[in-house]
Amino acid sequence: MQTILITGGAGFVGASLALEFKARYPQNKVLCLDNLKRRGSELNLPRLKAAGIEFIHGDIRIQTDIEAAGPFDLMVECSAEPSALAGYGGSPDYLLATNVTGTMHCLEACRRHRAALIFLSTSRVYPWNPIRNLPYKETKTRFEPNDFQNIPGISSTGISETFPLNGPRTLYGATKLASELLITEYADMYGIKAIVNRCGVLTGPWQMGKVDQGFMALWVASHFFGRTLSYIGFGGNGRQVRDVLHVKDLFELLDRQISDLSTHSGAVYNVGGGEVLSLSLMELTALVQEATGRKILFKSDPETRPGDIPWYITDIRAVTSATGWQPRMTPDEIVGEITSWIDQNQESLKHIL
Ligand SMILES: NC(=O)c1ccc[n+]([C@@H]2O[C@H](COP(=O)([O-])OP(=O)(O)OC[C@H]3O[C@@H](n4cnc5c(N)ncnc54)[C@H](O)[C@@H]3O)[C@@H](O)[C@H]2O)c1
Repeated sequence: MQTILITGGAGFVGASLALEFKARYPQNKVLCLDNLKRRGSELNLPRLKAAGIEFIHGDIRIQTDIEAAGPFDLMVECSAEPSALAGYGGSPDYLLATNVTGTMHCLEACRRHRAALIFLSTSRVYPWNPIRNLPYKETKTRFEPNDFQNIPGISSTGISETFPLNGPRTLYGATKLASELLITEYADMYGIKAIVNRCGVLTGPWQMGKVDQGFMALWVASHFFGRTLSYIGFGGNGRQVRDVLHVKDLFELLDRQISDLSTHSGAVYNVGGGEVLSLSLMELTALVQEATGRKILFKSDPETRPGDIPWYITDIRAVTSATGWQPRMTPDEIVGEITSWIDQNQESLKHIL
């Protein structure tokens, strides 16, 4: 891969991957295209520049902006409106234009340049209703499903690629699933090599965490700067569970996929930290208190937000057996890294996080 174009390349995932690619393959050209919509993405520009990565200020909603990047061999599509709450209580215009029309423009660029595509999809393609409606037991610190009700693709190991796709999944999830369908057709019709990674929670330093996206960074920042947090939904006690994946572990997976593109082309993988790297909000609070040495006020907001689920763990057995990849970074290591990052960049981050 001589030239890699990363869309959303100033965002958390895009910039982190770009820097990892450039560090591992310095002879390759890495281009990052981003419209800087996400607050804080601008902080990545000096980092990209210092690493010799070219930044293109562009918008994937505009076909000619992608054309301005010139030819490339691989696109890693990381530009999106990434919030599962996007569209609720307002217009879904931006979400649809970026996450669906934008993907179409990206596919067109791949077709014209005969380039391969790695698409960052989401666990949100799976409908929320059957997950929310499982019977849960409450342990001291987390929810645990105690009956999977014979639904295919779900077990204590997590949710796999065979989980049924019928039912509402949030508009965000729908835009990603729509993109996946377009990718399948472009791969079939135009022979584009494409891999879809349905990611659960991605995390690490340089994530501009906010209430609706990026909770690990938000948690650490709130402790660091002494702000109040709320446990939102499912009774408001912080027992909801997610598995978490450090963005460097994601890079290691992509590196394996790219080095064997023909084998993985056409694949759709669930990607996350898996059962071992899961935690509840309450458990996260304990880790963050330990790392920052600070305690803050927690409010309880028992009302569950639309589309929210009390438990999601990624079943990573398929991707692990296909690639040999295993995530490594544990939640406490991740919290430690995020804490150091905020500590070292307090001045710029206190206005954003
Ligand atoms: N972070 C996660 O936990 C997570 C989980 C699953 C999937 N994903 C997916 O990974 C990708 C990256 O997410 P992220 O966490 O880095 O989000 P992010 O918001 O940090 O990065 C997305 C970037 O895309 C840019 N962008 C938005 N609209 C654009 C447009 N129209 N044209 C060009 N650039 C645009 C933003 O400015 C931002 O820099 C997204 O596709 C997201 O859906 C993320």
